[in-house]
Amino acid sequence: MKTFVLLCSVCSIVSPKIIDLSSSKNVSWSFVNNNRTITGKATVPGGIYSDLHSAGIIGDILSEDNDVRTRWVAYDVWSYTAKFNISSKDLQAKVIHLVFEGLDTSGFITLNKHIPIGSFNNMFVRYVFDIKDKLQEGENELYVSFLSPVVAALIRSNKVFAAPDCVPAVYNGECHANQLRKMQASFGWDWGPAFPSVGIWRPVYIELYNGAIIRSVTTHITKVGSKWNLRLKVYLESSQNRTLLAGVLSASLQVEGKQTLRKWTQVNATTAADGTLVVELSLNVSDNVVRLWWPNGYGEQPLYKLKLQFTSDSDLDNPAYKTINVGFRTVELVESDASEILGNGTAGRGLTFYFKVNDQPLFMKGSNWIPSNILPELGESQKNVVDNLLKAARDVNMAMLRVWGGGVYESDYFYDKCDEFGILIWQDFLFACSMYPTDNYFISSVREEIEQNVLRLQHHPSIAVWAGNNENEVALRGNWYDTYPLFDKYKSEYIKLYVDTIKPIVEDLDPGRRYLVSSPSNGRESERENYIATNPYDPHFGDTHYYNYFADNWDMDTYPKTRFASEYGFQSMPSLKTMRTATNKDDDFHVRSKYSEHRQHSPNGYSYIEAQITRRMKLKEDDPKYFEKFVFYSQISQAMAIKTETELYRQDQANWYTMGALYWQLNDVWQAPSWSGIEYGGKWKMLHYFAKSFFAPVLVSPRLCSGDDIEVYLINDRFVPITDAWITVDIYNWKSVGPISTRQFPARAKPLSSKLQENADVHLRDYNKEEVFVRFTLQAQGVKSPPNYIFPVALKSVVGLQTPNIQILVSNLVTRRNHDRLEYAVNIRVDTVVPFLWLDTDIEGRFEENGLIVTEPQSVVKFLCNKHVSPRVLQKSITHQYYVN
Ligand SMILES: *[C@@H]1O[C@H](CO)[C@@H](O)[C@H](O)[C@H]1NC(C)=O
Ligand SMILES: *[C@@H]1O[C@H](CO)[C@@H](O)[C@H](O)[C@H]1NC(C)=O
Ligand SMILES: *[C@@H]1O[C@H](CO)[C@@H](O)[C@H](O)[C@H]1NC(C)=O
Ligand SMILES: *[C@@H]1O[C@H](CO)[C@@H](O)[C@H](O)[C@H]1NC(C)=O
Ligand SMILES: *[C@@H]1O[C@H](CO)[C@@H](O)[C@H](O)[C@H]1NC(C)=O
Ligand SMILES: *[C@@H]1O[C@H](CO)[C@@H](O)[C@H](O)[C@H]1NC(C)=O
Ligand SMILES: *[C@@H]1O[C@H](CO)[C@@H](O)[C@H](O)[C@H]1NC(C)=O
Repeated sequence: MKTFVLLCSVCSIVSPKIIDLSSSKNVSWSFVNNNRTITGKATVPGGIYSDLHSAGIIGDILSEDNDVRTRWVAYDVWSYTAKFNISSKDLQAKVIHLVFEGLDTSGFITLNKHIPIGSFNNMFVRYVFDIKDKLQEGENELYVSFLSPVVAALIRSNKVFAAPDCVPAVYNGECHANQLRKMQASFGWDWGPAFPSVGIWRPVYIELYNGAIIRSVTTHITKVGSKWNLRLKVYLESSQNRTLLAGVLSASLQVEGKQTLRKWTQVNATTAADGTLVVELSLNVSDNVVRLWWPNGYGEQPLYKLKLQFTSDSDLDNPAYKTINVGFRTVELVESDASEILGNGTAGRGLTFYFKVNDQPLFMKGSNWIPSNILPELGESQKNVVDNLLKAARDVNMAMLRVWGGGVYESDYFYDKCDEFGILIWQDFLFACSMYPTDNYFISSVREEIEQNVLRLQHHPSIAVWAGNNENEVALRGNWYDTYPLFDKYKSEYIKLYVDTIKPIVEDLDPGRRYLVSSPSNGRESERENYIATNPYDPHFGDTHYYNYFADNWDMDTYPKTRFASEYGFQSMPSLKTMRTATNKDDDFHVRSKYSEHRQHSPNGYSYIEAQITRRMKLKEDDPKYFEKFVFYSQISQAMAIKTETELYRQDQANWYTMGALYWQLNDVWQAPSWSGIEYGGKWKMLHYFAKSFFAPVLVSPRLCSGDDIEVYLINDRFVPITDAWITVDIYNWKSVGPISTRQFPARAKPLSSKLQENADVHLRDYNKEEVFVRFTLQAQGVKSPPNYIFPVALKSVVGLQTPNIQILVSNLVTRRNHDRLEYAVNIRVDTVVPFLWLDTDIEGRFEENGLIVTEPQSVVKFLCNKHVSPRVLQKSITHQYYVN
């Protein structure tokens, strides 16, 4: 048999022939507005804001107040046109399909001036049109016209209104995003600007074939004794009519030792009316030939290549291919009687809520992912941004990210990287902070969306759980949008959408994963209470979201109990360096400037940040460096708040079986105050540096109790115990380097546990609390653990803190690590204690740690980067900040 492969650059499907219609030498796209006054060259895949920027018609959209200044774009009607040539040979193919992987959001398509091809209304759906009878030999013209999403949403809202009326005015957003199947955050959010985009945001191409193509494959993996059963469902597509499909489907799996397991099956069946056929294949894979896939921090992520081939009897020369990676692991979300773990007291009431991976209960450490760019086409195409963010998550010991329901189903690249890095994904479906309409038009579009996206993503070992929406159960129960008078109507619509429509599709296509109706929810208990629980935040069930801007966020007693914290956070400012990429006007660099006001979408946001800062730190408005300090202190404040809350959740594994801490939010879409740990552009805030420590696999975590006692927990997220260990408690005063007192006590912890160390007996009764702080370190053979601290009083009240003399010297020795990573030793010399020493440089790279609590006269921190720079240049470039009263 002769095989012939044409590589496909735009998709993971390799099928008989693809004519790529992306912008290229052969295909040129142009855009035009409604009254034809604005036109230019377009890039496809792309979007209108990107094209207008490239054409010089609008400036940098993230600069100053350009989000509002460019809003007219979202009110116009934009059309895209391309010409391409088709040969007579191409026209002979039995099936010719025009495929759009993503159209944002509503509009219609024509070919060769007037021939209608179809319409679209959902940016998350792949549209496939049969164009065999419409295409002509020689030149063809494709035309795609997009309605204004703002107008389209309004028109629908007038017919099928669903609360809320609009986003809060401070968002500078647009109304009724819930009427469109579009990235909900593109109409504005509390952390981001509104850019109601339109465009061909994912690849567009023509598929030509005589037999069939492999559109998707799902993998259903179960462990039976020492064998894995890998059941494959292969989704073939052949024309859009009922067709007899005959041929051979084969699968080959590359396993350990360069061996390949093969399986094939004869296909001879009639497709469904839409031309699709599902063929099953099953492989038994012995434990002897595959290793387990683990989340980051718990083991490795071996992936095995699975290649599928379908050779149609009617087209032996052009088999269809698809290749995916398979990871062998089991994931289970366990909701069982909590008293079996916690006894019959208060804590044991209700159900557990934790992830068991390969039969091991694992505490999920991580964060929440928002789109990597506010323009969906850039989130898709800027792979280095996605790569850097996911690496940053991996490098600070995260094992799970929640892909939040107001964004997009991310690119194949994103999930491939998560598979590779061991980042488990909590995948929301894309409904957020809103009631949703349930008219037939909407529901049928949602059906298509859910089916396609589950089929596209299901095979990724990284996906751990599906959730129907973000916060819509709590929004209805909590009357966020004044829905009480219509509670019953909204409740029945809620059930219609997430329970009657989405749930059966997900459970049918992916029976192995749990579908949670909402996030947060009480899980099974919400289901028992007919989906809108009396208290969706019940600490005895499911997951919770918790935000408190009024309490003292450095105090562990602030935070409530939960089985699983899937959102919690606090705002901070982006660095001045990042702000300067949005404005260079000095006047903007004030908390009360018009610019600052414009960027702050959280009502009262700055006053919450300010209140948190001044509760703990000394900052006067007449300070000549007020703004600079405000920015820096906001990052300290956020880092300490999230550290405190996260450690509390990790400690609470011991007494509440809290088993997850995903803080809000990993990343940013613009240069503005937000809850993120990583700034727009990729710079780590202090929070992200701190995450590496507070998510460390082994952590000594202290807790200051009333009466000057300090409880000490030893947390161990590994499969081996900690024995023969000592915890050292050093007391320092604020006015000198080196401890003033040191003592040790023996410590131990079981595998995968958090344990209160009963014999710690640490207290501060012998000290003046204003004068001291405490450092905790672990000594155990072969175990690394970061130091941890207790600051008994607010920094603004401490006594003795001196202005330090700091010397920073970069050693001449440069170490080269794997992945071309270079390491420089940055030596720090101080003459007194320095709290929150923050190192900064314009050279691309990052420090291994930052926001250091410097307690010794000499210490070393590494600087990591990819490009060589002379140590002297690096040394010169390093600036620093620290806290001082
Ligand atoms: C452009 O067309 C030429 C001639 O038909 C073809 O050889 C080439 O592969 C095409 N390039 C792309 C990027 O499609
Ligand atoms: C054409 O559209 C542009 C952009 O929406 C608008 O600024 C302009 O006023 C319109 N011109 C006419 C003549 O309608
Ligand atoms: C199509 O082919 C014709 C004839 O070779 C050529 O003049 C024309 O530029 C081609 N069109 C495109 C869009 O490549
Ligand atoms: C597909 O079926 C429809 C109606 O069942 C028919 O009109 C059309 O011609 C068929 N198309 C092909 C390519 O067979
Ligand atoms: C496929 O099925 C059809 C009808 O069911 C039958 O006529 C044909 O012989 C079968 N072909 C093969 C190769 O088994
Ligand atoms: C896989 O193993 C099971 C149980 O050992 C057996 O029943 C089944 O037939 C095997 N399946 C395949 C495809 O070999
Ligand atoms: C909890 O209560 C049940 C029923 O009263 C009893 O059977 C069980 O032993 C108790 N469990 C614990 C851990 O006390």
